[in-house]
Amino acid sequence: MTSRRDFLWQISAMALVASSVSSLRSWAQAPTPTIDVPGEDGLIVRSFRFVDLETPVEYFNTWLTPVPRFFVRNHMHEPNELDAATWRLTIAGEVEKPLTLSLTDLAKLESHSVVNTLECAGNGRGFYRPQVPGIQWQKGAVSTARFSGPRLRGLLEHADVKASGKHVMFRGLDEVPGRVPLFIRSIPIEKALDSDTLIATHMTGAPLTKHHGFPARALVPGWIGAASCKWLTEIKVLDSEFVGNFMSPGYRLPNQPVKPGDAVKPEDMHPVTGLNVKSLIAGPADGSRIKPGRILVHGVAWAGEADVAKVEISTDGGTSWKPTTLGQERARYAWRLWRHELTAKPGEYSILSRATDSQGRVQPDTAVWNPSGYLYNAIDQVKIHVA
Ligand code: MTE
Repeated sequence: MTSRRDFLWQISAMALVASSVSSLRSWAQAPTPTIDVPGEDGLIVRSFRFVDLETPVEYFNTWLTPVPRFFVRNHMHEPNELDAATWRLTIAGEVEKPLTLSLTDLAKLESHSVVNTLECAGNGRGFYRPQVPGIQWQKGAVSTARFSGPRLRGLLEHADVKASGKHVMFRGLDEVPGRVPLFIRSIPIEKALDSDTLIATHMTGAPLTKHHGFPARALVPGWIGAASCKWLTEIKVLDSEFVGNFMSPGYRLPNQPVKPGDAVKPEDMHPVTGLNVKSLIAGPADGSRIKPGRILVHGVAWAGEADVAKVEISTDGGTSWKPTTLGQERARYAWRLWRHELTAKPGEYSILSRATDSQGRVQPDTAVWNPSGYLYNAIDQVKIHVA
């Protein structure tokens, strides 16, 4: 077993490798630092302070991401002690009948499954220019799993929410170092009562692993990953949005596009909720050398609470676009696989991918810059050498 100290030592060593690699271009060309974290499989280390692991894009060739390849995002330390026997979940606040549930109690409730593409709001932050502070995620702070567990709505019905209950707050068991504010967030009651919002205990058929929130996490489908609180122990119904660092200034976007350096007043910001429309090219790999002939271009595309309508690719810099074939596997909040076969003669190629969703949103050439680097969704691009 790797202790936390050993683990931190290993990732510090990786930090030395990574710190010499600064620009976007060199990141793309340099070998990316990966690490074998127990239970994880070849993920890219993006932060050395807490466990923040990115999935390499070439792993995005299955509809469900194998759990060891599912990205990990932690704002602080994972809990040291997690005992399924003593774990309790409380539901209190603006309710008539506060509840305390054990894991056995949760297991007795009807389980519902939702296949959800979970994406960190900061995925792609590393591509914004000028650069913004925060984890410099590139493409892979996104993955898909089948989450299962009781509906949050059922628990809230048991607790009998008062008319004053407007928001639902989640709190997890993170270990908070020093003066770091607690990771506590809330969602509006309407989303909490949605039949697909879960208290998930399982991920793709197995109990949640510690990295993904064992023994229970919120699952708020179609919304940014930050809504889905891990290691959940407390649900509190509030009469207004929770006030705290991870609600404001955290996870808020300016109402209008702003220029880098502009001051934005809190009242001119809104919370980030649903995900953008976005596609990624999983293969061929950026920078690869390929033999002339037929080349399979493939990847994934998702759109949060909307459906993916189409994914197109271009090999002439976006002048013309060809339709791709979407995969058969689909679910309301899950990404679609897509593929297209090209015939390529020797030469240099730049392949672009662009998704459009059921709300008419189209992946833009350039993502809208914002001070925290959220929701990056520019058209994806890989360069290949056919020889
Ligand atoms: N829940 C707790 N308790 N603490 C956290 O740091 N990170 C959030 C969310 N839930 C977080 C959390 C963020 S920002 C994301 S993107 C998702 O968890 C990532 O989920 P994963 O690590 O299972 O991929």
